[in-house]
Amino acid sequence: MTAIATAVYAQRRARLAALLGPKGVAIIPTAPEQQRNRDSDFLYRPDSYFYYLTGFSEPQAWLVITGDGKSTLFCQPKDMEREIWDGFRLGPVAAPAQMSVDAAYSVAELDAQLPALLDGRDVVWYPFATHKALETRIDGWLGSLRARVRYGALCPEQQRDLCGVLDEMRLFKDAHEQATMRRAAQISADAHVRAMQTSARMLRAGQPVREYHLDAELLHEFRRHGSQCPAYGSIVAGGANACVLHYRADAGEIRSGELVLIDAGCELDGYASDITRTFPANGKFSAPQRALYELVLASQEAAIAATRAGARFTEPHEATVKVLAQGMLDLGLLDANKVGTLQDVIEKRAYFPFYMHRTGHWLGMDVHDCGSYIEPSEVGSFSERKDPLSGETIKDRPARILQSGMVLTIEPGIYVRPAQGVPEQFHNIGIRIEDDAIVTDAGCELISRGVPVAVDEIEALMRG
Ligand code: GLY
Ligand code: MN
Ligand code: MN
Repeated sequence: MTAIATAVYAQRRARLAALLGPKGVAIIPTAPEQQRNRDSDFLYRPDSYFYYLTGFSEPQAWLVITGDGKSTLFCQPKDMEREIWDGFRLGPVAAPAQMSVDAAYSVAELDAQLPALLDGRDVVWYPFATHKALETRIDGWLGSLRARVRYGALCPEQQRDLCGVLDEMRLFKDAHEQATMRRAAQISADAHVRAMQTSARMLRAGQPVREYHLDAELLHEFRRHGSQCPAYGSIVAGGANACVLHYRADAGEIRSGELVLIDAGCELDGYASDITRTFPANGKFSAPQRALYELVLASQEAAIAATRAGARFTEPHEATVKVLAQGMLDLGLLDANKVGTLQDVIEKRAYFPFYMHRTGHWLGMDVHDCGSYIEPSEVGSFSERKDPLSGETIKDRPARILQSGMVLTIEPGIYVRPAQGVPEQFHNIGIRIEDDAIVTDAGCELISRGVPVAVDEIEALMRG
């Protein structure tokens, strides 16, 4: 770890310590290793909270922070034999200097050390409902401490959820995080460009193209720039597969004349990117494809214009829906004689069969990142309404007010499954355009535009 990175993590721990109360203590384990089958594990990824506070990526590690600002790391002990098989371990002797923590122990010492670290504290903070059996371990340590009350031990009286506090910190990306996210988005943008160009080139050469060919291009570009892995399962969907929202890159044929929807982003040093582009497999949009594409793009532009500090999180979605709904009426996807005016379409959610997801989500260490979507200063107020489609009673709470440094996606789409009354020329077209935006005081910075979105730019790129 560089000295700068070490300082960044130490500052985050200091900020957290200040929020725990002078006698609080926080316990944060990293993620467990996950068996894939027999003696093969899935690629290891540390817990996002733990990594946010340490930058430490070894498994079997715990962080304890006390309200007086002291950090203690528990990590795997040095073990030459295990290191020959599994790789380097930092070990507790080197950890304090390397990671700027105050103390470090072998993870085998957890049960011996934790009761003492809890002694005299008033609140134990830990992430609720996040780590299997964590509550049981904490109960055990509190039990050991309670057994010593006759010898002067003082047990914490409260347990509190650490998620809310850390989620709020993680929602605002600092300069270090923003720089990493810009790099991740640029790598992903390059990967999308590469997949688009490969599709057109292979079809021009008369080669059969399958979804996995384009997935391979994405992975190649991610890895060659140092990304550890995709941030989520890549979607590479040819033709009608684009109408399946959670489709995965599979073996479907990519056919000339059809669209391809790719939703893929790399993870870089713990941070996700999340980009979707939809393009003609052969590099040239047909008239109906173009009409729907231009509509989705216009709706995205409206959402981008609504993304700025001071706006509510829901405003980009509302802006998107307004443009999409009008476009659906204009293009004949919706029949005004049946669904009424634009206002009716919005109120009754008549657009829902073609646009059934929200326009964005927080983005950060996790692709669907943590952070409350409700404005904390107005959490007590709500209004109730009946959903026009499901009839359910929905509680509407005031949506989060966007602030500089928050990062979110802007991802409108339109998905047309064949149905009676739906113009045939649009059947089986699925389009989504997704970009990643850092909220600024003046508006937002789109960090994923290294891959174009305009029709003529995509066509020019694919002619290349
Ligand atoms: N790739 C997941 C999403 O767009 O939300
Ligand atoms: Mn997304
Ligand atoms: Mn996505």
